[in-house]
Amino acid sequence: MSASSSTSRSASPRRRYAIVGLGSRHALYQDGIENVHAATAELVGLCDVNAGRIELARQRSARNGAVVPAGYLAADFETMLRAHRPDVVIVTSVDATHHEYIIRAMDAGCDVITEKPMTTDAEKTRAILAAKQRTGRGLRVAFNYRYSPPRSQVKDLLMSGVIGDVLSVDFQWLLNTHHGADYFRRWHAEKKNSGGLFVHKSTHHFDLVNWWLAAVPVAVFATGKREFYTPEMARRLGLSGPHERCQTCPEKAKCGFYLNLEGSAGLNSLYAAHEAHDGYLRDRCVFRPEIDIEDTMNAMVTYDTGATLSYSLNTFNAWEGYVVAFNGTKGRLEHSIVESVYVNGTESVQGGVAEDGVKIRVVPLRGTGYDLKPWSAAGDHGGGDRLMLEDIFLPTPAVDKYLRAADERAGACSILVGIAANRSLQTGAQVRVADLVGTVPRPDYPPMPSRRDPVPMP
Ligand SMILES: NC(=O)c1ccc[n+]([C@@H]2O[C@H](COP(=O)([O-])OP(=O)(O)OC[C@H]3O[C@@H](n4cnc5c(N)ncnc54)[C@H](O)[C@@H]3O)[C@@H](O)[C@H]2O)c1
Repeated sequence: MSASSSTSRSASPRRRYAIVGLGSRHALYQDGIENVHAATAELVGLCDVNAGRIELARQRSARNGAVVPAGYLAADFETMLRAHRPDVVIVTSVDATHHEYIIRAMDAGCDVITEKPMTTDAEKTRAILAAKQRTGRGLRVAFNYRYSPPRSQVKDLLMSGVIGDVLSVDFQWLLNTHHGADYFRRWHAEKKNSGGLFVHKSTHHFDLVNWWLAAVPVAVFATGKREFYTPEMARRLGLSGPHERCQTCPEKAKCGFYLNLEGSAGLNSLYAAHEAHDGYLRDRCVFRPEIDIEDTMNAMVTYDTGATLSYSLNTFNAWEGYVVAFNGTKGRLEHSIVESVYVNGTESVQGGVAEDGVKIRVVPLRGTGYDLKPWSAAGDHGGGDRLMLEDIFLPTPAVDKYLRAADERAGACSILVGIAANRSLQTGAQVRVADLVGTVPRPDYPPMPSRRDPVPMP
């Protein structure tokens, strides 16, 4: 499939972008290019396995008042690159396919921006790192969580040395039965697509810890299980058992996990209307037996700085958000966020914060703790998405003292914690990250308090 648009590089000073993977997430980039950043960016190609979503994205360009880009099926990815010669390919496809497009785009001379996770296993990680070395092209991993103002504020506080150097971290992430359950309906529910939530979801969290601490992970021990999104739980909840999907479910009226695909304009137009093209069902039963990802996960991680992390991810909780605490040589920094309800592809705001939902507190080793007013901004992911787009698309982005732009080194350091955790689940043993890919490349981090700094007597 292809449709006409310009086929050669124009004299325009705008950077040329193509997007592969045209589901829910891609719209952030398409709208960024065609609206706010239209003066410096242009979209020249669209690619997906699903012809219906290609057409939908082309209609989106028309609505944005932009030149409608050519659309290509995934099999014609290289044809798209040859015909439209994008400077940058943006990868927003299913996680386990990222490496294919990252590597093929870099080999074709393009820079790449990929959504998280950079990829899903050690072999694909090695292939991406080799392609980066071979081609020298730019590869950026879109870690939008770093740009969320309170998380940047935490980075600022840690850099300031207010709690000294960090010796350990406790980090709990909670997903509720709206957003958390949604991973069990979609492609994410199979490890072959997503790497499981230790990779797909925790990549955000492990990246935050790596970046907050300016550290590289060394070893991981993990436990995990699926005990809530199971056929047994369906029966304990009073259902006769799991069914195929919500749309045809005989027990939809009494199931608290029923997703009304056709009742949501967003879900209907993006997924239900295009099932015929690829057979992808967006509303599969969260209790079906074929699911092979965990719903409850714990990991203990050690870092090259000597710091340790105790981490948990739970997907069926009463509220959504997180609690993180940094234990430093001069005190403790506590930060928590309670998020509002979100379901991917609907009109709800991802990472939207409940009223008074953000807390940041510094507690000196001795003396009284104090709360700080959290930094804030409007928009998805607590304003992080908009700030990240500015960093990506502005021709000369503002100098960033937090070094939030992440490349393949940070992409690898983050997923390797999850990949090591997955291996630890299989073996029951601690896994050394270097055993997965050799020497782990050290990302660029701003200077931080160090283990060599003198510590005042409390
Ligand atoms: N940074 C964030 O906060 C954030 C939020 C949501 C999603 N994401 C990431 O964005 C990516 C897309 O997620 P989504 O929510 O849009 O999922 P989605 O299911 O809505 O969209 C995925 C798209 O990829 C297409 N696709 C599947 N296989 C393909 C292939 N082989 N080649 C090309 N296209 C293919 C599908 O047809 C679909 O259009 C994922 O990697 C996800 O982790 C990141």
